[in-house]
Amino acid sequence: MDSFKYQNNELYCEDVKIKDLAEKYGTPLYVYSKNTIIDKFKATDEAFSSVDHTICYAMKANSNMEFLKLIASIGGGGDVVSGGELYLALKAGIPANKIVYASVGKTDDEMKFAIESGILAFNVESEPELDVLNEVAQKMGKKAPLAIRINPDIDVHGHPYISTGKSINKFGIDINTAYEVFLRAKEMDGIEIVGVHSHIGSQILNLDYFNASAKKLFDFVTKLREAGIEIQHVDIGGGLGVHYPDVIEEYAEERKEVPAPAELAARVIEVLKPLNCEIIFEPGRSIVGEAGALITQTNYIKYSRDTKFIVVDGGMNDLIRPSLYEAYHQIVPLTYTDGKLEKADVVGPICETGDFLAKGRNLPQVKRGDYLAVMTAGAYGYSLASNYNTRPRPAEIWVDGDKVEVIREREKVEDWI
Ligand code: LLP
Repeated sequence: MDSFKYQNNELYCEDVKIKDLAEKYGTPLYVYSKNTIIDKFKATDEAFSSVDHTICYAMKANSNMEFLKLIASIGGGGDVVSGGELYLALKAGIPANKIVYASVGKTDDEMKFAIESGILAFNVESEPELDVLNEVAQKMGKKAPLAIRINPDIDVHGHPYISTGKSINKFGIDINTAYEVFLRAKEMDGIEIVGVHSHIGSQILNLDYFNASAKKLFDFVTKLREAGIEIQHVDIGGGLGVHYPDVIEEYAEERKEVPAPAELAARVIEVLKPLNCEIIFEPGRSIVGEAGALITQTNYIKYSRDTKFIVVDGGMNDLIRPSLYEAYHQIVPLTYTDGKLEKADVVGPICETGDFLAKGRNLPQVKRGDYLAVMTAGAYGYSLASNYNTRPRPAEIWVDGDKVEVIREREKVEDWI
């Protein structure tokens, strides 16, 4: 779905002119297309329809309550990584038996809460964690549902901070030792083995990596079954990349083909189907990434000897991806102008050299007061936002056709006194 597009030179989100939102609600402002989220989720769900499956939305991408309620209403589960996420997921109506829980550092209290709630699986990331989980469950007189996260040692060649499936990463248990750990787990009174999990990284555009991971999971489950260990589900993690789109072609500097969920599902199902297991997929970015934009207003145009800076009111505290991962987000003006393009750095007001939204980017002439949209900011935008430099976090708004709803109020500095 083309949720952000120009009409009469003004950028719209669905049927709403974004400039009207910026003027009414102020900037920086997160604007989302609700129908994009629905479309992306449904396409993903449909992609796996030939097998028993659950789509567990990775809520770390954006855990706004309205997003979660929407996901729950269209049949989604949740991938959580903290007690806080589990709490919100349950409050939003995501059924506990559709929730999987990863994290290398689950606390005893978090484990208790998740066992009490009746989640589908703990994706356990180490042997010490398994021992604690067994102990906690036994004390409660219960069995904790276990899916060990195996680390398949697959290099997805992405940014090192978002690659997780190599043996040098902190995640999961090495695939060569995980078998023994499963054998131990089988003997534990507080553990019930239910599945196997793996997540190899994020913003993956090459489906061969998913296929390779599925093959390793297939072999692994086959070996477990030979040892008499029954496995009910295989969780392939998340990680499908998105298009960091080029709303205006001529400004585009980076264009990559993004596989559709159906292509990903086909590559995974062809390998895993003979296992007759439920398949769990944990997408975050590919559900909400393209659904959002960060709207920011130009405050100053500043020139140094070498560089033109467009100083805007959105900073790394609002959207840290460019600073942290050197991530590319296309930046476009809310009012289209077809004049001469000029290279500029788009920087925020934060007292850090690393505070930028774009560097050396071809942009049209903008002046003080002009609004810019930082595209594809729906995933890991607000959820990574902070109050650094004592800046209140932006409001979040979603658009459904011509309807507009504030789904999180802008924070106020007065609230902190
Ligand atoms: N499952 C697990 C176990 C994960 O660790 C993650 C993401 C996902 C699923 C969802 O991955 P996705 O489908 O969204 O790629 N902040 C970074 C991304 C960090 C991803 C962490 N784990 C960024 O802004 O690019």
